[in-house]
Amino acid sequence: MKTDVLIAMILMAVSCTPKLGDSPVEKIVGQMSVDEKVRTVVGTFTQTATPPPVAPGVNNRADYPGSKEATALSKNQVPGAAGDGFPIERLGIPAIVYADGPAGLRIDPRRENDSTTYYCTAFPGGTLLSSTWDTEIVKEVGAAIGDEVLRYGVDVLLAPGMNIQRNPLTGRNFEYYSEDPLLSGLTAAAYVNGVQSNGVGTSVKHFAANNQELYRNGINEIISERALRELYLRGFELVTKLAQPWTVMSSYNKINGTYASENKWLLTDILRDEWGYQGFIMTDWFGADDPVLQMEAGNDLLMPGTPNQIEELKEAVASGRLSEDVLDRNVKHILEVLAKTPRVKGYAYKNDPDLFAHAIISLNAATEGMVLLHNNGALPLETKTVALFGNYGYDIQPGGSGSGYVNRAYKINLDKGLAGAGYTLDKDLAAAYKNYIAEEKAKLPEEYFWVIPTVEEMSVSNEMIRSASSSDAAIITIGRMSGEGGDRSEAKGDYLLSDQEQSLVKRVSKEFHSKGKPVIVVLNIGAPVELTGLENQVDAILLAWLPGQEAGSAIADIVSGTVNPSGKLPVSFAKNYHDIPSSKNFGLSSGEINTVRYEEDLMVGYRYFTTAGVKPLYPFGFGLSYTTFEYSDFRIEDNTLCVKVKNTGLRPGREVVQFYVEKPGGDSTRPKYELCAFSKTKLLSPGETADVMVKLETAINPLEQWTDSGWSLVPGTYRFWAAASSENLILNTNKTY
Ligand code: GLC
Repeated sequence: MKTDVLIAMILMAVSCTPKLGDSPVEKIVGQMSVDEKVRTVVGTFTQTATPPPVAPGVNNRADYPGSKEATALSKNQVPGAAGDGFPIERLGIPAIVYADGPAGLRIDPRRENDSTTYYCTAFPGGTLLSSTWDTEIVKEVGAAIGDEVLRYGVDVLLAPGMNIQRNPLTGRNFEYYSEDPLLSGLTAAAYVNGVQSNGVGTSVKHFAANNQELYRNGINEIISERALRELYLRGFELVTKLAQPWTVMSSYNKINGTYASENKWLLTDILRDEWGYQGFIMTDWFGADDPVLQMEAGNDLLMPGTPNQIEELKEAVASGRLSEDVLDRNVKHILEVLAKTPRVKGYAYKNDPDLFAHAIISLNAATEGMVLLHNNGALPLETKTVALFGNYGYDIQPGGSGSGYVNRAYKINLDKGLAGAGYTLDKDLAAAYKNYIAEEKAKLPEEYFWVIPTVEEMSVSNEMIRSASSSDAAIITIGRMSGEGGDRSEAKGDYLLSDQEQSLVKRVSKEFHSKGKPVIVVLNIGAPVELTGLENQVDAILLAWLPGQEAGSAIADIVSGTVNPSGKLPVSFAKNYHDIPSSKNFGLSSGEINTVRYEEDLMVGYRYFTTAGVKPLYPFGFGLSYTTFEYSDFRIEDNTLCVKVKNTGLRPGREVVQFYVEKPGGDSTRPKYELCAFSKTKLLSPGETADVMVKLETAINPLEQWTDSGWSLVPGTYRFWAAASSENLILNTNKTY
């Protein structure tokens, strides 16, 4: 055959081969072999590591990136990313890159034989973002993270984490948003819209009800459909309808006996068919057990992928156990998303994000989400000399450990932040802490994403306290670490303050108060601790959460009054752990292998406290300001809640107006009232009034209840409240539906 004819035929053949992004996905699927289809639904990442702790009697094949070596095995094109998709060059399908995480992109900051660094911005964790109650700020953070995802060559960010904070001991609460599904869902939607505005994807996780770390790969959670619908799924419903995340990550756990990733009712009947989800679903890393069941349930992609899964699926297709139509459906879901990715669009990333601009966004978000829990007037701190106590003041925790960790270039500790704000710190005390921390850290393994070693709190002598009391004020930092792979404990030094921390507070307060000087506590924690009695001992308590890399500067901005605190609690702080209903069923339900029963049903957080009349220490929605606000003229017009909010104090400030609704027809198993809308005012000058108008959410109807016949707007009179917290209901108005 003549060469020119041959070339023409080859060109014809090549030009006839459909290419992802140019040709309809159906055409591409039609060109794929079974082997290529199987490789498309399984990630390319293979690794060996010790399986995680599982409960007795659970068949678990999960491996973990439990060590740096395991992660380094990854063949990622972007070192440090969590996994890749399978490339099929002839069809124009590149190896898509997936990377964590919610507080910022996590990739390796350095590469072999490469002088460039690849640091990412460590933003505040999820719980601080939701504490802003400001979806605009959350969207801005999401957009900045998405910019780093794009510019560092990643296609899909494995975030946000948004499971309901059912219990304060959950190890990953810092990555999640709230005890309330409306706040969780609207915060997540803002985050997803922000990230995806860059043309990259997200993966809302972990769908669903991943509310503990203990035995997370196999735990069987017994949850009523009402609690699922109204609490554990509702936030995911909101984010799906409001932001269409490109992907969803199914959770490790079982729900009522079935693994989430093998659960057709959850993944197909509800997520896709009922809510109209259009992206694809991936497993959590090494999640669940039977790849065929996962395929059939509608879990499109198995990440990070193992050789066994590929073999099992090939055999299943060959034996007829897995229909190729199911495979085609899942491949189609994946390719429809991949067609949108920067990699398919040929985006030439240059590793050039503006980290300075993002640092400012991180700082601003951090100050907006910090919550002032107690203040007898000591803050803002006008004096200028400070004695800073507590390890965390000199070695602050910007974020938690696990996949949500961020390889940041630096962190601003509180001592540096206070100095930057013009405070002079007690030098001897600072030197003692810095030397102690350096010495103790030298004995510990180096920090990396999975493990952040912490140093025992330094002992402080009475002499040191006396000497430091020459300063005008004392600041005591109390911190907690937590992370993926383990839950916290009720023990002292975790949920409870340690004896050492209690003693430090007592002795510093005695000394400084004897000289008429204030004592301020700063909490650098990822989830509630027990603070009962603390406010009787100190003059102010500032909840800084895990505030990202600009932590010290953000805290100093609040302490100095540069920023007026406007954060509100997205989760309740109980007076006693055993006041929390889920404390009876957390981790494992007594006497049952690998089972936890959500016996509290809807009674989570403020839903319980307000209904049972049990007073929390600090309620959901609570947060103090350096100014005061007055509400007036509350009314509901059509489906819009309207109220005037006036700044009646002497400083500019922002107020978060919360709207709660008492629904009719409830019985004792239903909450007395629930959050149905919220809005954060702009910065109001003293004397300025804002006309707050918030339309009731339309993607879902927050007035509905889940009944035996599904969602229902029960006829009757609804009482609406305009409130400054779940325990501070100010004005009410009624409407009959
Ligand atoms: C982890 C986490 C998940 C993360 C994934 C990839 O086990 O559960 O949140 O995105 O694996 O690192």
